Amino acid sequence: MGKVALALAGIAKAHGSNAVVRGLDLEIFEGEFFVLLGPSGCGKTTLLRMVAGLSDPDSGRIALGGSDVTSVPAEARNIAMVFQDYALYPHMTVRNNLAFGLKRHRVPRDQIGGRIERVARMLAIEQLLDRKPHQLSGGQQQRVALGRAIVREPLLFLMDEPLSNLDAQVRANTRAELKELQHRLGVTTLYVTHDQVEAMTLADRLAVMNLGRLEQVGRPLDVYRLPATLFVAQFLSSPRLNLLAGEIAGGTVRTPVAVFPTGGASGPGGPVQVGIRPEWLRFSPDPVAGSLPLDVALIEPLGAEVLVHARWPDGELVARVAVDGKLPDRGKVWIDAAASRLDLFDADGRRIGSTPGDAEPSNPREISPPLQPAAARGA
Ligand SMILES: Nc1ncnc2c1ncn2[C@@H]1O[C@H](COP(=O)(O)OP(=O)(O)O)[C@@H](O)[C@H]1O
Ligand SMILES: [Mg+2]
Repeated sequence: MGKVALALAGIAKAHGSNAVVRGLDLEIFEGEFFVLLGPSGCGKTTLLRMVAGLSDPDSGRIALGGSDVTSVPAEARNIAMVFQDYALYPHMTVRNNLAFGLKRHRVPRDQIGGRIERVARMLAIEQLLDRKPHQLSGGQQQRVALGRAIVREPLLFLMDEPLSNLDAQVRANTRAELKELQHRLGVTTLYVTHDQVEAMTLADRLAVMNLGRLEQVGRPLDVYRLPATLFVAQFLSSPRLNLLAGEIAGGTVRTPVAVFPTGGASGPGGPVQVGIRPEWLRFSPDPVAGSLPLDVALIEPLGAEVLVHARWPDGELVARVAVDGKLPDRGKVWIDAAASRLDLFDADGRRIGSTPGDAEPSNPREISPPLQPAAARGA
């Protein structure tokens, strides 16, 4: 990795008695597209506003390019922020919206026109420069908002759910453009979203945030394959993660619906929380020894895949199955325990390990550590 562009150390912030950001450490590298992913209300906007200098942390330090900016005012931080609601000036033309920040930051007049032309070309908004925001579509307004950030040539882009007001199709297109643009410009970007697909597709690295803290930081596929906590596994699961109570005993993980092989782990064992991703759960149309028969309750076609919902007396399990795979019909199915892959968590939701299943990560560096019984890992 290169040089650290943004460093946060021990950042905390409360709104009244509500501790919103709770001692957060993070380093983002130069040129990186870093995504902060978390549910609504977990403190993402509160954190971005502190990085931008729009509010002060109660404690902790913020460094930009190696210098401490914790008490530097927003205008002097050379950061550009793009918001969800665009926040364009409605009475100004696109050209003046782009020029506004440059004038305020005292960019010499003879440079402003050229910079605007260049950014307008880059974003294909040259034809829109003399329009007012209300004469633009949502996607066009979002480009202008991006352009206003880019034209400043900042050290850091902060983006707070900038695509969430766009229609699905425009959002997907703008997402792809944004990623390409960011790589071309090479400007370090801290991007906030609650949308796991956005996070997975955009990020060089991402952090999953929960209740004002970071649960895990890593490359998207590493975090997907090896979730550090049950929260991360649940947040990155679509549809929801299947969760079962289990017990490690004698080389198996016993659950109420099936007994799964651990893949060679041994030890005294103990209770575990078993997470099974819908795409890593395999049903069998034929009886499987040790598995409970389940009733197929619902089959939802998605296109290339279907969701199979199967019920047992205490709950429902959902599997995502390729259409050309062996499709269970209505009636009974059984869990194919040898083919399904589990993620195992202790009572506090911390990762213990995974069982092999069919979905073993293909990159050997990313294969999970062997199973350890909860009791042997210490506090
Ligand atoms: N200015 C404020 N005054 C009081 N509470 C706030 C303020 N801003 C945010 N909060 C609260 O802080 C928590 C985190 O908010 P926010 O940072 O906006 O979350 P996110 O952006 O992840 O959805 C929420 O419970 C929210 O109600
Ligand atoms: Mg927010």
